[in-house]
Amino acid sequence: MRFTALPGFRDVHPDAFARRRRIFGVWREVASRYGFEEYDGPPLEPLELYTSKSGPEIVEQLYHFTDRGGREVALRPEMTPTLARLMGERAAALRKPIRWFSVPQLFRYERQQRGRLREHFQLNVDIIGEPGPAADAEVIAVAIDIVRGLGFGPGEVRVRLSDRRVLAEVLTSGLGVLESELAGVLAAFDRYERSKEAAEAALEQVFAGDSRRAHEVRQFAAALGDPAPLLEASAAEPLKACLYQLEGLGLGEYVDVDFRIVRGLAYYTGVVFELFDAKRSLRAICGGGRYDTLIQSLGGPDLPCVGFGMGDVVLGELLADRDGPPRAEAAIDVFLVLVREEERAALLALAAALRARGVRVEYALKKQALGKQLELAGSRGAGWAVIIGPDEYAAGKVKVRALRSGTEATLGIEEVRTSFQFTRTDEGSEPVQ
Ligand code: HAM
Repeated sequence: MRFTALPGFRDVHPDAFARRRRIFGVWREVASRYGFEEYDGPPLEPLELYTSKSGPEIVEQLYHFTDRGGREVALRPEMTPTLARLMGERAAALRKPIRWFSVPQLFRYERQQRGRLREHFQLNVDIIGEPGPAADAEVIAVAIDIVRGLGFGPGEVRVRLSDRRVLAEVLTSGLGVLESELAGVLAAFDRYERSKEAAEAALEQVFAGDSRRAHEVRQFAAALGDPAPLLEASAAEPLKACLYQLEGLGLGEYVDVDFRIVRGLAYYTGVVFELFDAKRSLRAICGGGRYDTLIQSLGGPDLPCVGFGMGDVVLGELLADRDGPPRAEAAIDVFLVLVREEERAALLALAAALRARGVRVEYALKKQALGKQLELAGSRGAGWAVIIGPDEYAAGKVKVRALRSGTEATLGIEEVRTSFQFTRTDEGSEPVQ
C-alpha cells in the first residue's frame, strides 16, 4: 500500500520550505515593524464558535466532528472568532489599542484549485479597541508593506477598498432596502464576481415576489464599478479619511476604491478590503475589514476591531510565477573532512566549538574516502571545507579550503576554532588569505 497526502494538503520539502520561510519572515518582520505582538490559539475549537457568526459559506467548509467527550468541535477555518474569544477574556486588562498578529494553520474543506487548498497558513493582523479610520489605514498599510517587501509594486498588486456602511446607507435610504434584508443583499453582492447568475438568484430570493425592488437593486449592483457617486454618501467619510491616511503613509498608489468588494464573512460592519494581483489571475491575496460587533456578539465586551487575513498559498503562487521554482538554500557553512579516523576526537571538538559560535557544521558520520566527504560537502552547499590531516594536526594546524574558488590555506587550529570567519555561501565565500 502507498500513502499520499490527502487532496488539498501539502507535503513541504526543504526546497519548498525555503519559500515558506521567506513569506513567514516578511510577515513577522513587517508586523513587528508596526508594533504588533504575536499570539496563537488552539487549532481545535467548539463548533459553535463558527456556526454562530462566521456565515454560511465558511460553515459549509468546516472539518468538524464529535470528540470522545461528546463535544462538537471543528478545526479552525479562520482565526477571527478565536481572537474575539481571547479578547472577550483578556481585553479589559490590556492597554488599547491592542495590536496583535498570528500565523495560524487553517482548515477548510474547499473545492481544490490553484491558490485554494484545504489547509493554509494565514497571517492575521488585527487592531482591537480603536473605531477610527486611522486603525483601518494602519492594518491596510501592513498588508501593502508585506507585498512591497516581497518585491511587488503597485503595477502588480492592487488593494480594492470598500465600506459596507456606504452600501448600507445607499441601499436603505436610497433604495428602500430593509435592515432585515441587508445581510442577504450584501451576501448576494459578494457573489457577483464569481457568478452573476448565482448573485441574481440570491437577490430574487431576498426580494421574493417584489420584482421591482429586485430589479432596482440589480441595476445598482451593475453600476458599482464606478465609485464616484457612492463617495458622495455621508457614510463615505470614514473611507475617505482612511484613504487620506494611506496617502500620508505613501501607500495611496496601491489603492483603488471599489464598492464591488463586500467580503463573504457575515461579521464585517465597516471598511472592507482585498488585495489582488493586478491581473486578477488568482483569488484574493488577502482580505479583511472592520468587525465592530463580533466580540460582543460572542459574549465579550463592546470593542471595535479591524484586521485582515493573508494566506501563504496565493502569495506562494505569485512568487513562483515571478521567480520560478524555489531554490534550496545552503544547509551548512562548513564541512569538516577527516583524512583518517585517528583524528575523529579532534574533529568532534572542532565541530562543537564552531557550532557554539553559530557556524553551521556537518561532517561524515562514518569512515569515508576523502573524495566522498568533499562530494557530500558540495551537495550540502557548503562554502568551506576544513580538512584535518595527520601531519598538519600534529603541528596544531588544519587546511581550510574555500570550495567555490578552490583556494586553500593551512591555518592554526586555534584560530579556526575561535575566530576564522566562515562567510556564508549565499553571501559569496572569499578566498583564504
Ligand atoms: P478570508 O477572506 O476568508 O478572511 O481569508 C483571507 C485570505 O486567506 C484569503 O484572501 C486567501 O488569501 C487566504 N485563504 C482563505 N482560504 C484559503 C484556502 N482555502 N486556500 C488558500 N488560501 C486561503 C478571513 O479568514 C478573515 N478571518 C480575515 C480577517 C482577519 N478579518 C479580520 N481579521
